[in-house]
Amino acid sequence: MSDILLQIDGREVGAREGMTILEAAQSVGISIPTLCHHEKLEPYGACRICTVEVEVNGWTKLVVSCVHPVEENIIVRTRSEKVDRISKTIIELLMAHAPDSPQLQDLAQEYGADKDRFEKDASFCIHCGLCVRYCAEVVKKNAIGFVGRGINKEISFIPEIAAKECDDCKECFPLCPTSYLQAAFVLTKALFSPPPSSEPVQDE
Ligand code: SF4
Ligand code: FES
Repeated sequence: MSDILLQIDGREVGAREGMTILEAAQSVGISIPTLCHHEKLEPYGACRICTVEVEVNGWTKLVVSCVHPVEENIIVRTRSEKVDRISKTIIELLMAHAPDSPQLQDLAQEYGADKDRFEKDASFCIHCGLCVRYCAEVVKKNAIGFVGRGINKEISFIPEIAAKECDDCKECFPLCPTSYLQAAFVLTKALFSPPPSSEPVQDE
């Protein structure tokens, strides 16, 4: 049974206490773009691409829908001039890091984003954290983590764990919105693989 009634894109939506706006929208088939959200993971709120406009008593504000809880009688707009403007800028910023990401390219088309607006800094990882959190929260192996801070932050496989666990798992690979995760794994694997034997082959 629904505890809370709200309006999303002009539709009356019933939601349960504690649901996020994103969950309420998805429950009735209203789509909000996401990059760092996964239904099996704790909300993270990192990428901001799920930003929506909320109106309460005539006042509007922008909120991050994957972490913002539903409230009685709020009016939610998943598309508005403000939402589209901020979404476009977020996509343009992320495309400076990962211009070839198919997900970002689709979003760029949807929101009219210019992939060349910001100077390229092709680090390829957009720090969505899906790989790190999925490995920790779902697979419970912690084979991958973030290292560094700020602009130097990057994901890194833990070679000792990855060598044992990742070849038979790779569940996080399809979650990555860019090509970075697979590239990082190939690099790590090269580092933890023993070099080919240089022993001379004995004649029989
Ligand atoms: S490697 Fe991919 S999944 Fe992992 S944090 Fe970076 S963009 Fe996200
Ligand atoms: S999907 Fe909500 S902040 Fe990333």
